Amino acid sequence: MIHGYRDWLPEIPDHAIATIGEGDTPLIEAPRVSERVGARVHLKFEGMNPTGSFKDRGMTVALSRAKAAGNRICVCASTGNTAASAAAYAARAGLECLVVVPAGKIAMGKAVQILAHGAEIVQIEGNFDAALKLSRRLDEDREDVALVNSVNPDRIEGQKTAAFEVCEVLGRPPDALAIPVGNAGNITAYWKGFREWRDAGHADSAPRMLGFQAEGASPLVAGHDFEDPETVASAIRIGSPASKEGALNAMRESGGLIESVTDGEILAAQSFLAREEGVFCEPASAAGIAGLLKLAREGRAPEGTIVSVLTGHGLKDPDVILKNAKLPEPVEATFEAVASRMERALSSTGP
Ligand code: F0G
Repeated sequence: MIHGYRDWLPEIPDHAIATIGEGDTPLIEAPRVSERVGARVHLKFEGMNPTGSFKDRGMTVALSRAKAAGNRICVCASTGNTAASAAAYAARAGLECLVVVPAGKIAMGKAVQILAHGAEIVQIEGNFDAALKLSRRLDEDREDVALVNSVNPDRIEGQKTAAFEVCEVLGRPPDALAIPVGNAGNITAYWKGFREWRDAGHADSAPRMLGFQAEGASPLVAGHDFEDPETVASAIRIGSPASKEGALNAMRESGGLIESVTDGEILAAQSFLAREEGVFCEPASAAGIAGLLKLAREGRAPEGTIVSVLTGHGLKDPDVILKNAKLPEPVEATFEAVASRMERALSSTGP
C-alpha cells in the first residue's frame, strides 16, 4: 500500500517499510441492500486486509515510521483490532509490541491473533478509554516507545488511502459514505482522503460523511462522554473518542451526519449482509449498513452512489453468533437422513 501511494504519505525510507499486503480491498456491489435503501450501495470490505481489519492501512505506516525512527517497542490501547494489527506489523518490523485491553472484553478471534503474533497483552480492569490514557502515559514516559493508536498522525495518513481506492474504482467520489464510529480515527481519515483527492484536482466533489455509533456508546450523538459505554459491538465500545473533533469536522464540512443505531439494528444488519449478500463482517462493521437501513425506513436515505465501509471480518468476532446458534445434533450417515435435511432446507426457503 505504501508503494502505491508514496507521494501522499509521510516520508518512509525503503529499508524501514513494513508491509504484508494491506490495502487494495474489494469494493463490492450490494444489490439487496441497494433495493432496500433505494440507492446504489457498495461495500468497501476492509475485512480483506491481512489481519482482517482496516487498521492495517494505518499500521503499515505507523510501524514503518517507528522503525525508521529507531523505536524499540510499540504500544496501543485497543478493543481488539488495533492490537491484532499492531502485533502483526510489529512482528514484521522487528519491534516489540505491548497492547492494553479491557479485561474479558475483546472478541475471541482478535485475542487469538495477538497471542499468535507474540505481543505482550495487558488486560486492565477498566474500559478502552482508561486503556488509552495509560498507553499515552507509557508513550510520554520513555523515548523508545511509539504510540500506535490513531492519535498518532501516521495512522490517519495510512487509513486515508481507502478513500483514494474508492474514488479510483468508482471513477469519482461516491455521493455518501456510511461508516461506523468508535474512537473516530477512521471517519477522520476518510474525510482527509476525500478532501485531498478533491484538492489535488482529481474530483470536484466529496461525499457526505454518515457516521454511526452504537446507541449505548454514542458520545458524539449525545454531546457528552459516556462513563460506561455498552454495546454488543465490542470494537466500538468507546465512551470518549480521541478524534472527536475530526469526526465532527467531517460531519459539518461534508454536510453529513452522526447518528446512533441500536444493538438490535446492528445485529440485524450483520445477518442481512451475511445471508443476503454473502459478506460476513463483524458486528461493529455492520453499523454503517444498519444506519443506512434506518435512514431508508425513515425516508431520509441519500440518493445516488453510497459506499459503506465494512471495517472488519466476521471471523474475528464469532462470540455473538455462537451464543445465539449452535451446530445441530449429528445424524446417522445414511442417504435418508441427509436427504431429509435437504428437504427441510428447501422447504424453509419456499419454491
Ligand atoms: N470497526 C471496527 C471493526 C473497529 O475495530 C473499530 C475500532 C471501528 C470500527 C471504529 O473505528 O475507532 O477509527 O472510529 N477499533 C479500535 C480498536 C478502537 O482498538 O481496534 P474508529
